[in-house]
Amino acid sequence: MLERIKLTALQSKVMTAQESAHFFKDGMVVGSSGFTRGGDSKVVLKALAERAQTEELKVTLLTGASLGHGTDEALVESNALHKRLPFQVDTTMRKAINAGKVLFIDQHLGETAEHIFDGQFSIDLGVLEITEILEDGSIVPTTSVGNNAAIAKNAKQLILEINTAIPTAIKGLHDIYQVEDYGQRTPIGIEKCDSRIGTETIAIDPSKVVGIVFHNIQDMAGDIVPADEATTAIAENIVKFFENEVKEGRLTNQLMPLQCGIGKVANAVLGGMENSDFENLVMYSEVLQDSTFDLIDSGKMTFASASSMTVSQACYDRVMANIEHYKDKIILRPQAISNAAEVIRRLGIIGINTSLECDIYGNVNSTHVSGTHMMNGIGGSGDFARNAHISIFVTSSTAKNGNISSIVPMVSHTDHTEHDVDIIVTEQGLADLRGLAPRERARVIIENCAHPSYQAELLSYFERACAERGGQTPHILEEAFSWHTRLRETGAMKITNTLQQPTEVEHV
Ligand code: COA
Repeated sequence: MLERIKLTALQSKVMTAQESAHFFKDGMVVGSSGFTRGGDSKVVLKALAERAQTEELKVTLLTGASLGHGTDEALVESNALHKRLPFQVDTTMRKAINAGKVLFIDQHLGETAEHIFDGQFSIDLGVLEITEILEDGSIVPTTSVGNNAAIAKNAKQLILEINTAIPTAIKGLHDIYQVEDYGQRTPIGIEKCDSRIGTETIAIDPSKVVGIVFHNIQDMAGDIVPADEATTAIAENIVKFFENEVKEGRLTNQLMPLQCGIGKVANAVLGGMENSDFENLVMYSEVLQDSTFDLIDSGKMTFASASSMTVSQACYDRVMANIEHYKDKIILRPQAISNAAEVIRRLGIIGINTSLECDIYGNVNSTHVSGTHMMNGIGGSGDFARNAHISIFVTSSTAKNGNISSIVPMVSHTDHTEHDVDIIVTEQGLADLRGLAPRERARVIIENCAHPSYQAELLSYFERACAERGGQTPHILEEAFSWHTRLRETGAMKITNTLQQPTEVEHV
C-alpha cells in the first residue's frame, strides 16, 4: 500500500479513519471531495459522524455535489452538520433541510470554487479521496474532480483518503486547471471538448497533510432507472427536434456538444441517441452516466468531458477494467471548469436538464416542491441553462399519479427564468420557444406539453388573464398559485378530483 505514497516523508502520516477524525473541531468548515457519488470520502466523514454521536461536533460541509454510501444520512443522524452546500440528493438530508435542522446553500456548482477563492468559505480541513501521492507531493484524484483543487489550495489542513480499489492507471484521465485571481484572470483555453489545458494531478503543500487513510471501497453504484413509456416519448421528441434542426440547416449530424443533467429522463434522452442517425457526438457536461459510455462504446460519441462519473456497477467495472481504452475518450475537470459560463457559451452547448414544473411562459422550477421544500438543488442546471446555445428542459407532464400538473400557471419557485429556456419537452410533445413572445409561448406550451386533463384549465387561465388583466406576461395574481393551494388542501391540482389516490401533502 505504501507504494501509493511516493513522497516518502508523508508515509508517517498513515492512520485509521477514527484517528483522523480527531482533527475535526466543532464549528469547522470542512471541504470534501465527492460529486454525484463519484470520488467521495468513504471512511473519514463516516468517522466524523461516529464521533459526533457522542460529543457536540457540528461542521459546515462543502463538497463537489452529492455523496454516496449514506454519508450525508450518517452525518445528519449524528447531528454533525450545521450547514451543507452546494448540492445533495439524500432523503434524510432533504428532510433535515426542510425541517430547518440543517441549513442548506443551494448553489450553482460552477460557482462554489469562486466562493472558496474569495474567502466566503475559509476551509479548515479538507478531506480528499485520491489514488496516490506522487514524488512531488501532488495527488491524483479518483472518479471525480469536483472542487478538489480549490479545497486542496485553500484548506488549512488536509486528510487524504487513498482508495486502493481505483487503479493507479486512472492517472491521466484528469485535467486540473484553476483560474487566476480577478485582475490577472486569463481566458480558460478550452476551444473543444477534448482540449487539455492543465495538469494530470493536483499540486498540494505536503506540510498541510495531517493524516492519510487507506481504504478499498468502490463508489456507490448509480441508480439506473430503465426508460419507461414517458421517458422514451420525451427522448423521441428530442431526437425528432434535433432531426428537424439538421433538416433546417441549424445543426449538423454531429449536433453540438451535449450536456445532460441527472435523473432517469436525462439518461433516457442520451440512450435515445443510440438508435439515431447522429454521429461523432461529443459531450461537455458535469456527470458521465451509463448512457455516455454506451454511446462511446457504440461509436456514436467520440469524446466526453465532465467533472465526475456516476454509473451502474456493471458500467463501473467495465470502465475500471479498461481505463486505458477510455483515456483518450473522456476527461474529468474541476467543476469550476466543466461548468464555466465562458466555456459553455464558447462551445455552443445543447443543455438538457430536468424540471419539477414549468409555467405557461417558460419559467422553470427544478428545486422547490410547491415553492418551499427542497428536492436536491439547482446543481449545474443553471450554469448550463443560462449559457447554452440551446437550453432544453424536460419533465413528465404530470407527477404523482396525475395529481400534479408539471405545467402550471406560475411556477412556485423560479430557478431558470423564461429568458434562459428555449425548449420544453414532455411526453406529450415539444414546445420550441425560440423567437416567441410570452403570449405566443403560453399557447405553444399548453398545446404541446401540458397533459390533456389540464389543458383546458390552463388555456382558460391564460385567456382570462389576457382579457381581464393584460400585460406583457398576463397573470391573475390571486389565482396564479391556486393550483398549488388546491394541491395542499385536496391532494390534487385538479378542480374535480376524479383520481382515486390523492397525493399526501407531506409527501410532495
Ligand atoms: N411536484 C412535486 N413533486 C414532483 C413534481 C412536482 N411538480 N415533479 C416531479 N416530482 C417528484 C416525482 O414524483 C419524483 O418523486 P418520487 O421519487 O417520490 O416519485 C421526484 O420528484 C423526481 O422526479 P422524477 O420524475 O423521477 O425525475 P428525475 O429523477 O429526473 O428528477 C429533478 C427530477 C428535477 C428532481 C432532478 O433532475 C434534479 O434534481 N434537478 C436539479 C439538478 C440538476 O438539474 N442538475 C443538472 C446538472 S447534473
